[in-house]
Amino acid sequence: MNVIVVHADGPYHCSGALELRSADSRIIATPSEAWLCRCGLSRDKPYCDGSHAQAGLAAEPLSVGSIEPEQGAGVLRIRTRKDGPLKLEGGCEVRTEDGKVLLRGNETALCRCGSSKRKPFCDGTHREVGFEAG
Ligand code: FES
Repeated sequence: MNVIVVHADGPYHCSGALELRSADSRIIATPSEAWLCRCGLSRDKPYCDGSHAQAGLAAEPLSVGSIEPEQGAGVLRIRTRKDGPLKLEGGCEVRTEDGKVLLRGNETALCRCGSSKRKPFCDGTHREVGFEAG
């Protein structure tokens, strides 16, 4: 199963059959594991570079989305949206570090600007804060 663990004070830890794509849909990597920035501060987006230490993410509660029945195995496509979230397509489960399921499904958008009020999900706030990323 493809799993994304939301680290309370840091990045998304993604594991499974991953396909990372750029905003123009080019495949940039097909790893089995990746640490992706969710604070918006990394200088190596979409990857985490440790900059979250300044972001204060741990103090914010996490929201719960839809939880569907167990998803079959398959590729999880993670595409960056220009100046926006990480768009996920494919079966996956999004969890907290202690195993609480926040979402199970085939499609969602995860915040990577660090400003959503519904973390880990994108709520469109990236437009208000002027988030810029390819
Ligand atoms: S990417 Fe953060 S609110 Fe959309």
